[in-house]
Amino acid sequence: MEATEFRNVGHQVVDLLADYLASVDQKRITPDINPERVRALFDEPLPQHGVAAEDILKELQQKLLPNCVHVSHPGYFGLITPTPTPAGILGDFIAAALNQNPGSYVIGPAATEMERRTVRWLCDLIGFGPRAGGNLTSGGTMANLIAAKLGRDFTSDNTAQHRGFRERYTAYVSEERHVSVDKAFDVTGFGRENMRVLPTDDEFRLRLDALESAIVEDKKRGLRPAVIVAMAGSTATGAIDPLGALAAIAAREKMWLHADAAYGGGVLLSKKRAGALQGIELAHSVTLDPHKWFYAPLDAGAVLVRDESFLTSSFGIAPPYLTTSPDRYQFYVHGFEQSRRFRALKVWMSFKRYGAEEIGRWIDRNIEHAEQLYELASNDAAFECVNKPVMSAICLRYGGGDLGFHQRVAAEIEREGKYWISTTVLKGQPAFRINPVNFRTRAEHIEGLFHDLKESCGRMA
Ligand SMILES: Cc1ncc(COP(=O)(O)O)c(C=O)c1O
Repeated sequence: MEATEFRNVGHQVVDLLADYLASVDQKRITPDINPERVRALFDEPLPQHGVAAEDILKELQQKLLPNCVHVSHPGYFGLITPTPTPAGILGDFIAAALNQNPGSYVIGPAATEMERRTVRWLCDLIGFGPRAGGNLTSGGTMANLIAAKLGRDFTSDNTAQHRGFRERYTAYVSEERHVSVDKAFDVTGFGRENMRVLPTDDEFRLRLDALESAIVEDKKRGLRPAVIVAMAGSTATGAIDPLGALAAIAAREKMWLHADAAYGGGVLLSKKRAGALQGIELAHSVTLDPHKWFYAPLDAGAVLVRDESFLTSSFGIAPPYLTTSPDRYQFYVHGFEQSRRFRALKVWMSFKRYGAEEIGRWIDRNIEHAEQLYELASNDAAFECVNKPVMSAICLRYGGGDLGFHQRVAAEIEREGKYWISTTVLKGQPAFRINPVNFRTRAEHIEGLFHDLKESCGRMA
């Protein structure tokens, strides 16, 4: 592609996206999804001859855009994929063009330093001291996996990474954990049967009495309690486990404490919920996803550790083909992923463009949206509020409807195209799960959702 073509089509792309973002609230959130039709749209053999980029752009307008779910729509209250900030979108565009690889200093000196700075900002929000470190990951799943390995290596005094397990290690998690935690304990060799799934209290917080008894039982059986995963904002309700008390237990038992703030990390910027994650700074490691409630475009997760040497002990293998010198910071000896995108740029650019205060105001507004919905549903006898919003997530139940009913109503809301909500099961009971993580959402969208939800529930009951 010649420079002129790149420039012309590049301008067209920016115009297209600027128009898209300006009018996204006019669209149906979900296309009328027919998987066979969508598959057929892209069913063609490997192209042997190129065509003009302008033609490809036209094809995308015909085939891709009409078949996207518009997560930037203010009525999208779904799985935690926020509307991305325009500054973050531009950041990813630039990152792709420069193709820096912060996995190794030599292929991205400034990218490395910008990621270190971004990591430092996130560590400051957590309250970690000067020894802290971390890296940006593909998301919370990868961050939780890395944390499980750090916990294993810490408990085994860094022998398990060489010899494998010599004892049976156990991990302790809440019934409200994210599924990535199960995957992490599988991949790191603990085995999911050695992961104790503990009950929660009425506010979906891990019960300390259950944790204490499980540890006692496991020790009696000769097992080695190794890792506690605390939720610092559970996926369904935003529940925050008792972080300070968990840190005290972990210290007493010489266990690793990991806090999963993949979603909940956003409240570190909130004024309304200032201090809600107090105690998180006592964790050994924290997962925090800028691509969730910091409104960064996918992908950008982060694993942060209160002492960077944990990362180096766990990942410090230096192969001969990667040269280094003491003045060059090498992410490859401080993390799992080698080649990786310059993820920091979009997060760095968002913080620079909007500032932590503005992003914190968006987060506070999303919390207010959840509170508004809580008020509406609390004053309506047909609905039961399953949780009082701690963050932006709120779960509601309609009458005695079973899971099938809640799913049918959510599907109907999706068909109407104005809003998108999901469903879940909490303590065995079904619920609608509504999670505004969108700086375009306004109070009128919450009112509209409640109106339509009530109407659909009444009609379909
Ligand atoms: C609490 C929590 N942890 C981890 C994850 C996994 O994060 P990701 O989807 O970025 O891999 C999620 C995803 O929603 C989550 O809510």
